[in-house]
Amino acid sequence: MSNLARISISVEENLLDKFDDYVERSGFPTRSEAMKNIMREAIIRDEWMKGEFVAGNISLVYDHHKPGIVEKLLHSQHDFCNEIQCSQHIHLDHSNCMEIIVLRGKGERIREILKRLRQIKGLKHIVLTMGTLEKQNL
Ligand code: NI
Repeated sequence: MSNLARISISVEENLLDKFDDYVERSGFPTRSEAMKNIMREAIIRDEWMKGEFVAGNISLVYDHHKPGIVEKLLHSQHDFCNEIQCSQHIHLDHSNCMEIIVLRGKGERIREILKRLRQIKGLKHIVLTMGTLEKQNL
């Protein structure tokens, strides 16, 4: 475990009240754990913005009956072979499919994949989860 540092911050009371409410509802055991999670998220977002090598995933849902959608999804993904590590396809019901695409590469390149996939008409949902390669041992 890394060395722990203690910090003290000043914050408006009403903001702290709202934060404590958030901490309790979110399930964090302590205010410190919630703050550490927020700090890690900020650092990860910054890694993505700086174009560093990152990891993440894109989750999407679509109706496979939609003409051409499966081919468009496949074609788009084949243009990003270096970044796409693997993908998983789940048949949710008779019509709906979920795909989870695991990615690793430069943040800007992964945002390009997201942009490309978003252009496919008929997607019901698409979301990017930003992760880190943990090079900085967060
Ligand atoms: Ni399916």
